[in-house]
Amino acid sequence: MREIYADHAATTFPRPPAVAAAMTAYLNNIGCSPGRGGYKRSLDAARLVYESRSRLAELFNAARPEQVIFTPSVTYSLNLLLKGLLRTGDHVLVSSVEHNSVVRPLSRLAGELELQVEFLQCNPDSSLDPLQVKKKLRPSTRLVILTHASNVTGALLPVYETGEILAGTDTFYAVDAAQTAGSEEVDFAALRCDYLAFTGHKGLLGPPGIGGMCISERAAEITEPLVEGGTGSRSEQERQPGFLPDKFESGTQNVPGIAGLNAGVLTVLDAGTEALGRQKRELTERFRQGLAQIPGIKVYGPTDAAATTATISVSIEGMDSGDLSFILDQAYGIMTRSGLHCAPYAHRTLGTFPAGTLRFSFGYGSTQLDVTEILAALKEITTAR
Ligand SMILES: Cc1ncc(COP(=O)(O)O)c(C=O)c1O
Repeated sequence: MREIYADHAATTFPRPPAVAAAMTAYLNNIGCSPGRGGYKRSLDAARLVYESRSRLAELFNAARPEQVIFTPSVTYSLNLLLKGLLRTGDHVLVSSVEHNSVVRPLSRLAGELELQVEFLQCNPDSSLDPLQVKKKLRPSTRLVILTHASNVTGALLPVYETGEILAGTDTFYAVDAAQTAGSEEVDFAALRCDYLAFTGHKGLLGPPGIGGMCISERAAEITEPLVEGGTGSRSEQERQPGFLPDKFESGTQNVPGIAGLNAGVLTVLDAGTEALGRQKRELTERFRQGLAQIPGIKVYGPTDAAATTATISVSIEGMDSGDLSFILDQAYGIMTRSGLHCAPYAHRTLGTFPAGTLRFSFGYGSTQLDVTEILAALKEITTAR
């Protein structure tokens, strides 16, 4: 049975061969830590890390490569910015389709710091009217945080419009680009945001365990690090250095991950974000049209392909999404993700909580044949009921 991977919103698979090759090359040919020694191998490692940082700065249009901070994941980056920025009593605006990587740390902080957390209510298709931001913004709002796209429906949120609304205010602005980096335009300068959090293992085609964020100069100054320790710089000082990127990068770095991400980002830059996004959108559009021909399938999210990523959530009346995912895997070799997708608020917004939905997501390496075979499987399943 041919395997069809349709869970790219979770992680990319298969990755470009250059990713594993870059990781192996680092481990075999360099192998040492960057910034910790003056010998050649350490300098080679430092060059590799700098190259990767520069490539990410190019991709995200950050003014200085040092504004790109490496972290283990977007989850870590979001924790860093929430815990490093927010103080007692702060007012925070957050969309109603955020991932648990925002919802959970924010919920704990809300209790500990008596935060005033307000939701920007998304529409039932999970799109968001930027007027919501205008309406709920207060002079005292400390942070607005938006995911660029819902990981449940693929709906793109108005992150650029929100940047315009917030420009010139004292409010900090964070964008979670987990679902869009590598296939949508994610432009740090044009977003006018303070934090752009990303993960390496989805659209950037890198390995798991590496991610990061771009940070504005004003946010870098005020945000406390989540972890302190050795940086290989200013070792005589008792306190963490205050400059970028060392303020937020303590301990020996995940250089194999950074090497793999470097290769993934190079693939993205070579192919072009626009072309990668278009290819996925074409598949999604064909899939959406095919789904509309199958009776009994309900599709969630915006209907306009330009308003979504390559992620589609569906349900089949009378069928549990977990059972459906299991059948697709066992009988057809089709890999999907069912349930709440770590985003219970997104499902409350859609009206699919607590049952959840079945999510299909396309990505690097997805083909027209994948779409054809998934549609045929769904037709067979729905007719057999
Ligand atoms: C919107 C969004 N934010 C955050 C995350 C967390 O990503 P990671 O597990 O790489 O930290 C995900 C992953 O599914 C996501 O889709």
